[in-house]
Amino acid sequence: MHSTIRLSASCLLCAAAAVTAAQSVVKPTGNPPRFPEADKRLTDQVKPASNNWLLDANDDAERFRRLQIVASGTDIPMWEIGNRFEELHIAVTKGNWEMGVYHLEKMRDRMNTSGMKRPARTQNIEAMFFKSGAYQNMHDALTSKDASRMRAEFQNMRGVCMACHNAENVGFLNDSAVFKRTEAFPPPGR
Ligand code: HEC
Repeated sequence: MHSTIRLSASCLLCAAAAVTAAQSVVKPTGNPPRFPEADKRLTDQVKPASNNWLLDANDDAERFRRLQIVASGTDIPMWEIGNRFEELHIAVTKGNWEMGVYHLEKMRDRMNTSGMKRPARTQNIEAMFFKSGAYQNMHDALTSKDASRMRAEFQNMRGVCMACHNAENVGFLNDSAVFKRTEAFPPPGR
């Protein structure tokens, strides 16, 4: 390991990449790289399509355009919120209030960036998730360490999630697995 100290930072990266490539179980197909036909603007790129999908773009405007597409609107944040909501359910089940606060605060941040990305959703995010008290009451319940209060506020928040889906005309998503898995708590002590 000591010999690596003499390598420059860039060569360390090369070495790390080489190790990763050597260890990959995914064998290249040999198919020629090309851009998806769905996005016609990609073919304006002067450099050939490669794994440097951001750095090889013609200019920063195109780089930002690509980043904005990849960052998505509400769907990827909601995917994350759904996962964190399940972890919050586990935290409440176990009475691990710190883990609950951790996930809840990340959910808060993701709700707000969702509104930044899809501003027509801000009204319902703010009114239903924040100004209704759903977020703060859940936070207060966790820091109170009162198990029954935590459980009650969790179920209240679950109702807010589903009500907002109805308000945003995506009520069909209330059949998602996350809501089935969080519909109840095991008896205390489990
Ligand atoms: C603005 C009100 C609003 C609130 C509050 C809200 N959601 Fe959503 N949620 C949406 C919208 C809108 C979509 C659909 C996104 C799209 O059309 O790209 C969505 C989609 C989802 C999805 C599907 C994501 C996917 O594409 O896989 C899940 C899961 C989800 N929400 C969970 C939750 C949970 C859990 C909560 C509560 C903690 C919550 N949502 C609160 C508006 C909301």
